[in-house]
Amino acid sequence: MKELSLHILDIVQNSLRAGASLVQIMVTIDTRQDFLRLKIEDNGCGMTEDFLQQVTDPFTTTRTTRKVGLGIPLLKEAAERTGGHFIIQSQVGVGTMVEANFVYRHIDCMPLGDMASTMMILIQGSPEVDFIYEYSFNERSFLLKTAELREILQHVPLDEPQVLKWIHDFVQENEGLVREGNVNENN
Ligand SMILES: Nc1ncnc2c1ncn2[C@@H]1O[C@H](COP(=O)(O)OP(=O)(O)O)[C@@H](O)[C@H]1O
Ligand SMILES: [Mg+2]
Repeated sequence: MKELSLHILDIVQNSLRAGASLVQIMVTIDTRQDFLRLKIEDNGCGMTEDFLQQVTDPFTTTRTTRKVGLGIPLLKEAAERTGGHFIIQSQVGVGTMVEANFVYRHIDCMPLGDMASTMMILIQGSPEVDFIYEYSFNERSFLLKTAELREILQHVPLDEPQVLKWIHDFVQENEGLVREGNVNENN
């Protein structure tokens, strides 16, 4: 994959398939400490310890031995390729947390990509799910909480085209504003 947002889409799809009603997506960029961290937390069905081993173990990823897909190993590999690290924690009946840490200025650190469209696609596909998206760039950040939006909009569904467009523009504009405060950082 060429953009982190595509990895995010993939990992969040796992959460949705696991029946999560709450999915928290965090993107944290720290140019001083030179890291980019993705964190996706859900309250879905979770995984047993044995299964978790199977899901992350690169030796079980060959076609013949692996019954599940490669979304998690691919993200793990992408993070480790930059000198970063990957953490996955899960508990049956509680939920799952996936964290991928990238070395931000490493040549193999992919661009974040289009998070505005990613959030729009996710909300369009699962308007009943509570999504929290937090983007931080150094000391600045912004939050999108669909539960709050739903309350404000009352009877207007989140998957109405105008609402989706608003969400898209909100994410895009705020990402720009949050980064703009850091123009001297050369990013
Ligand atoms: N957030 C999650 N909650 C519960 N199970 C999960 C979660 N993420 C992944 N899994 C389990 O791990 C498997 C492997 O995930 P992944 O590597 O993304 O491949 P794929 O989604 O293509 O199967 C999934 O099929 C699913 O059974
Ligand atoms: Mg997957």
